Amino acid sequence: MNSLANRLADHYQRALRTNEVLAQIDAHYPNGPTLHQLAPLDQLHIGGVAASSRLLERLDAKPHAKVLDVGAGLGGLMRQGAALGFQMTGLDITHEFSALNKALSLRVQPESPPLTWVTGDARALPFTDNSFDAVLFQHSLLNMPDATKVLAESRRVLRPGGQIVMHEVVSGPNVLTLRYPVPWAASSEHSHLHTIAELTRLLEVGGFTLEHVEDWSEMALEWRQRQRKKEQASRQAVLSPQWIFGERFLTMGKNLMDNLAQGAIKVVEIHVSC
Ligand SMILES: C[S@@+](CC[C@H](N)C(=O)[O-])C[C@H]1O[C@@H](n2cnc3c(N)ncnc32)[C@H](O)[C@@H]1O
Repeated sequence: MNSLANRLADHYQRALRTNEVLAQIDAHYPNGPTLHQLAPLDQLHIGGVAASSRLLERLDAKPHAKVLDVGAGLGGLMRQGAALGFQMTGLDITHEFSALNKALSLRVQPESPPLTWVTGDARALPFTDNSFDAVLFQHSLLNMPDATKVLAESRRVLRPGGQIVMHEVVSGPNVLTLRYPVPWAASSEHSHLHTIAELTRLLEVGGFTLEHVEDWSEMALEWRQRQRKKEQASRQAVLSPQWIFGERFLTMGKNLMDNLAQGAIKVVEIHVSC
């Protein structure tokens, strides 16, 4: 593993108790969990299942379309995409996340079409040229120090006419007030945010045509406020982000809400084609 992978693994794997998570799921959902039951654990982004649905609605619904989810995490988006008939590949640099993603997928019924899990780095995608119809980023580019390289790699593996769809955190007008920890970073070391203008420019310079740009920040704040109330009301939920982040998540979740409310961050959906 390279040093970026090691440092990110420290952030994402430090409190992760894979066997206990699986035992909890097996105890509560002996017939296999539904996508909604897994959502508090495997949708590690603002907006949950609904945000993933909106992202997937942007994809051209070709039969057997091959879709790469870059920074797939625990795979909530992948399993939703598979349920719609997309052939989903999930790539993640954090190996324990890829392993847990696979274990979760094997518990969800039905499990077709088949999913593929790869541990790897978005800066050097282990795939041949022109091998995907679409590439997705959902709260993952925010961890990546070299966006230009990552987008060039995405372009390389996309077939001509392919799409990138992103649901990402970007920096807001008050980014200097950004409070850590947040779910993707304990400090500024792993937070690599661009403004919307910078990100769209990077995409255009990288050879993509902008199809759609939408600021989801208001919706994102309302969603996070609702989640926060739920987290405070019920500490006995079957699954929650605390199974991944431990008690740190209480501060992360609050900071996320405050950062949105104060304009330190924004949430955006961007759709481009090549
Ligand atoms: C905040 S999580 C989001 C996970 C998932 N996309 C979701 O929305 O539930 C960010 C993910 O990006 C992954 N990641 C960060 N840098 C990466 C890189 N250079 N290559 C591949 N994956 C990366 C992390 O390991 C982590 O799983």
